[in-house]
Amino acid sequence: MREVQPVIKGVRGAPDILPAEVGRWRQIEVGARRVLENYGYQEIRTPMFERTELFVRGIGEGTDIVDKQMYTFEDRGHESLTLRPEGTAPVVRAYLEHGLVTKGSLCKVYYIGPMFRHERPQAGRFRQFHQIGAEALGVEDAALDAEVLDLLSHLFDTLEVAGWQLHLNSIGCETCRPVFRERFALSMLGKKAGLCPDCLVRLERNPLRILDCKVEGCRALAAQAPTPLESLCGECEAHFRKLQGLLQLLKIDYSINQHLVRGLDYYTRTTFEFVNPALGAQNAFAGGGRYDLLVTEMGGPPTPGIGFAIGMERLLLSLPPERPGEAWAGVFAVTMGEEAFHLGLRLVQELRRQGLRAALDMERRSVKSQMRLAHKERYRHALILGDDELRAGMATVKDMAHGGQEQVPLPEVVERLTRGEDQAQQKEA
Ligand code: HAM
Repeated sequence: MREVQPVIKGVRGAPDILPAEVGRWRQIEVGARRVLENYGYQEIRTPMFERTELFVRGIGEGTDIVDKQMYTFEDRGHESLTLRPEGTAPVVRAYLEHGLVTKGSLCKVYYIGPMFRHERPQAGRFRQFHQIGAEALGVEDAALDAEVLDLLSHLFDTLEVAGWQLHLNSIGCETCRPVFRERFALSMLGKKAGLCPDCLVRLERNPLRILDCKVEGCRALAAQAPTPLESLCGECEAHFRKLQGLLQLLKIDYSINQHLVRGLDYYTRTTFEFVNPALGAQNAFAGGGRYDLLVTEMGGPPTPGIGFAIGMERLLLSLPPERPGEAWAGVFAVTMGEEAFHLGLRLVQELRRQGLRAALDMERRSVKSQMRLAHKERYRHALILGDDELRAGMATVKDMAHGGQEQVPLPEVVERLTRGEDQAQQKEA
């Protein structure tokens, strides 16, 4: 179709996902659901918007998300609401609100859906983007961290993501994280002259967020500052050592990235990112970590947790080229004349009710064009209904994938096609 500029265009950074692209999205959704459910996760669906306070408390003031990127609005009841920029805080809220906390010690949930952040759109960075995320609440053992990383590496292998790398770090707990923060802040205080204006504010409010700065000068200075691993307490060090031992046991390759503190404040201990170097500046296509203090921060009982989110747009950019189109399936009724068209309508209705993909040409093109269309759209069978066929009480069934055709009495057509499709599908499988 000719492109026409609509009077009102879509919002920048909130792209449409067109029919030709949806197949790939579904492919990763189906793959992810299967893997997540095999690892014991159940789906949860939380609303697209929440009270603003949930994200301010959960993600933390001074983070880029809370300070600059939230889509916050007042509704008609004068309540401040925010389109969800991420899924962890909403899951923890739902977990507490619905007493999932009392329904067994380990709660594993996953979600798939859009998130909203007012960022500057560029390749791999959008204002509406999609995440596949998961949260496991109730277990502190590093074995759970290893299982989460195993799940992700398994999923990325299944989807054939080429060249992924796992970056790993530990940023400590409520005992040793403040020590690190202090050391880091002190070191940055000494380098104050080289920091950008934003980082000077960060230094006052939330010094670790200097690590999120994109300005080259600030990055270089932050790279010289103390790292969290140097400040870990005995327990955090043991936790991190155990995790690394288990990753070796499970044969999951990783590298330690001491600067990985992540852009949200709720993390404790393990933090990680899956990176595809081919993606350029926005190369992290998944990230996550432990958040052992978030549930208490939200008013719940002490409950450790760990989770991750995969950025679907970036994951899609990391997948191998699409495989050849779908398998041949379904029935296209090719009709000639009014009587045949009406018979086609009834047969197509019946075939659809039997659960088959079925179509007929509403634009009444020539037989040749109808056959071409059936071929183009990869219908497995053409059901040809012409004057000759009708007179004889027969239809012609043509196998579009392999050639060959047969005459079938009209009363047997539906049964024959339903059987034929079953057999074709079994053969494809
Ligand atoms: P995050 O690192 O902010 O973590 O986001 C996870 C992933 O979402 C990123 O690695 C990236 O692939 C994708 N992403 C983030 N922002 C954008 C954007 N503007 N455009 C496109 N993709 C984007 C979280 O959201 C945490 N809730 C993850 C988590 C779950 N941690 C524990 N549990």
